[in-house]
Amino acid sequence: MVRPLDLGIFLPNAKGGAIMATGSPPQYFPTWELNKKNAVIAEKAGFEFLLSMVKWRGFGGETNHWDYSLESFTLMAACAAVTSRIQLYASVAIPTIHPGVIAKMTSTIDDVSNGRFGVNIVSGWNKLEYSQMGLWRGDAYFEKRYEYATEYLDILRRLWRDERVNHKSEFFDFEDCKSYPKPSREIPIICAGQSDRGISFTGQYADFGFLGGQDDSLEDLGRLNKKLQRAAGQFGRNVGAYVLLTVIAEETDEAAFRKRDFFIETSDRPAMSEWARVAGMDFSRATYQDLAVQTFMAIPYVAGSYATVAQYLDGLAENGIAGVCFIFPDYQSDLQRLVDNVLPLMKHRRADAPALVDA
Ligand SMILES: Cc1cc2nc3c(=O)[nH]c(=O)nc-3n(C[C@H](O)[C@H](O)[C@H](O)COP(=O)(O)O)c2cc1C
Repeated sequence: MVRPLDLGIFLPNAKGGAIMATGSPPQYFPTWELNKKNAVIAEKAGFEFLLSMVKWRGFGGETNHWDYSLESFTLMAACAAVTSRIQLYASVAIPTIHPGVIAKMTSTIDDVSNGRFGVNIVSGWNKLEYSQMGLWRGDAYFEKRYEYATEYLDILRRLWRDERVNHKSEFFDFEDCKSYPKPSREIPIICAGQSDRGISFTGQYADFGFLGGQDDSLEDLGRLNKKLQRAAGQFGRNVGAYVLLTVIAEETDEAAFRKRDFFIETSDRPAMSEWARVAGMDFSRATYQDLAVQTFMAIPYVAGSYATVAQYLDGLAENGIAGVCFIFPDYQSDLQRLVDNVLPLMKHRRADAPALVDA
């Protein structure tokens, strides 16, 4: 029995999303209107979740990629007020905000959303995002980021559950700390760490983990899922494996490939170089394959006809993937096109999924 995929949207809260290109459709600005539009369509179409990322600095270039972004918690609080059923996840960059503050922000959005809110724990990989405002904890922090994340999450969970919290360590100093109101349910936790240490953290503590890197074949993702389940199994747990996926879906395979190739031809090379520089990557002798990876930011993508994309999504479900979080080139129209043209072709849809038409 194949479990249907949870369907989610990676909200367009940072300029350019996950395609570093100057071509058409032009890079969108991350406005509330655009985010609200996608949140409302997703809820109406029976999607399971919305997730927004947190970014403090982008990569410049011709497109100012990610230089403009809406903050994740405040955005999801607004999404909570315009939806009523869909699950909502905000991302916290843990070097930036104290867990005592995040505990209460979470309880607040849990209340606004009537128990639909969860948290994506981001340990932080881009030093410049933090050093630009004096919040980089030193290079040694990077090596210890999942130890810090472990304490951070443990404190959050105690603040959400216990009457008083005491905790003294290298990182934190809590003394008789009270935090009310408590959230209405156990807050679901996501982590998207890709390193061995990140996967182990996800396996031990998170409810959902993202499989990623530049592997987008079903075999690769199936293999990564097994690795995540092995990490969780060591702690007697299961973790739902989610895939972040850029979708280029058109009438025909050829039309989708043309669009993908156009993005690669019009890639924003200066922004890509800056991204590679801060991420410590070297693409100086880039092949076409490397360029595709850079243009799509090393996030899995699928390009094809509506039927090809539906088949790929069914393949994810058949490989034990629990959910998919969609990224689109054009958030003005692509979500509705996916809802109208791709989802009805999928075999593994939830029995209770609403009719997939825009009323
Ligand atoms: C779905 C998804 C969401 C992510 N969200 C963020 C984010 O909001 N902010 C951020 O700085 N990094 C984000 N990341 C990066 C991860 O948190 C993580 O730092 C990265 O995958 C490197 O893994 P590592 O920490 O194990 O080395 C995200 C990655 C994925 C796949």
